[in-house]
Parts: sequence; C-alpha cells; structure tokens
Amino acid sequence: MTALPRLTPRQSDAMADRFLDHCRTTGVLAPDAPAASWTGFHALRDRLRAGFHVPTTTLTPLAARVLYGLAAAHRPAAVATLGCFAGNLMAWVSGPGFGPGPRYPGERALGVDVDADAVHLASGNLRRAGFAAGARAVVADAFDAAGLSAGATWDLLLIDIDVPGARKSGYARLLERWLPHLAPGALVIAHDVCHPAFTWDLRDYAAFATDRGAVATTTLPVDDCGLEVTRWPG
Ligand SMILES: C[S@@+](CC[C@H](N)C(=O)[O-])C[C@H]1O[C@@H](n2cnc3c(N)ncnc32)[C@H](O)[C@@H]1O
Repeated sequence: MTALPRLTPRQSDAMADRFLDHCRTTGVLAPDAPAASWTGFHALRDRLRAGFHVPTTTLTPLAARVLYGLAAAHRPAAVATLGCFAGNLMAWVSGPGFGPGPRYPGERALGVDVDADAVHLASGNLRRAGFAAGARAVVADAFDAAGLSAGATWDLLLIDIDVPGARKSGYARLLERWLPHLAPGALVIAHDVCHPAFTWDLRDYAAFATDRGAVATTTLPVDDCGLEVTRWPG
C-alpha cells in the first residue's frame, strides 16, 4: 500500500480552519469569533522551533494549529494549562495573547505541573521564545484550583494531566474543582479524549461537563489524541 502524502502547511492551515468552523457551528466558539492568522501561527512556530526544548510530545501540527486558532478566536485574558510538562501545548493556547507579537493583550497564562524539572524546562522555554512575563509555569498540584486561582477567574483551561496509576481518569474531578473559578463563557479544552489508551478513563468526560452546565461541547478528532472543546455559559 502506498503511504498518503503529508499535508502541505497550507493544506494543514485549511484543515484547521474547517475544525474551527465546526466549533463556531456547534457553539463552542461564538459565530463571529475571529479567524486565526496562519501567518501569526507560522511566526510563532519558528520561534518555538528556535527556542523550545521539548523532550517528548504527542502534539501534532494540526492539533497545534487548532489550539492556536481556538485561543486566537476566543481571546482569553487568563489561560491555565494543567499538566504543562515542557510548555508545548501551553505555548499554543497562550501564544496569541502572550507570545512574541501578541494578537491581543493577555493578562495571565499559568502552566501547572507536579514535575519540578518539567516546570524548570517550561519556564526556560517560555523566556527563550519571547513570551510575556505574564506567562509562567509553577510546580503545583493541579487539583488545588482555589489556591492556584487566588480569587481570579480563567477564560481558557487546558487539561492534560497524566497521573501515574490513574492516568487520565482524573479529568472530571479536576474540572469539578476548576468550575467555580471559570469566567463567564470560558472554554475548557481536554487533550487525549480520542486516544485508545484513554477511552475508558475519559468515556464520561463530555457527559459530565454537560451535566455540570456546559452549553456546548464537541469532540475534535484532529489526530489520534483528539480534543474535547467545551464552553460554559457567558
Ligand atoms: C501528558 S503530560 C503533559 C504534556 C504537556 N501538556 C505538553 O505540552 O507536552 C502530563 C503531565 O501531567 C503532569 N501531572 C500529573 N499529575 C499532575 C497533577 N496532579 N498536577 C499537575 N500536573 C500533573 C505530569 O507531571 C506530566 O508532566
């Protein structure tokens, strides 16, 4: 069997636009949410390639585009990434507001991980790539939502923890902890919802979010990992 040719960057940009259009249609993005600037995406990618050290990642180029596009469309002032490791996914969801040449002025981007070496790496990556001082990574347990929020709210939350022994089964409990700290209209993105290794762990995640008041949720099969994008009432 002949392998399919890889998508060109322009084809990947166009495919990401289709996923983002789907988000508008399903209501996880506002119908008039701005389109992503793929020029901005490619400029950020050049900066990350030059300044980021990522020992391992499952993030694909299409998923990176969709994360960047969601943030560019939603324009979150405050972003939290739970399980940030070296900051790779964090860079894409905080890039439009906190990266070099920001598309809008972000206020706070927080990466959280229990692994001190990973947080050290993420902090160096963010600085080398030219992220604003408001983007930082801290060593903490992501379940401490109240302590990490310190009275503030979040416009975009990305969940990507992987707990030894429990793997991804903690997503719903984590979401429950962060719900009181979400801003009106917040987006929550959960990574790995399509991954075969996590089917059992995450089988009820979307239903749980809907039961807890989400107004829209959609699964994006951008790659083997997949993203669940969920919106709270505005
Ligand atoms: C799949 S990796 C995250 C990958 C990362 N988002 C990226 O951009 O490459 C999962 C991370 O969750 C972290 N983790 C596990 N339990 C955690 C917890 N309770 N609080 C914060 N981080 C946690 C692990 O240390 C690990 O770095």
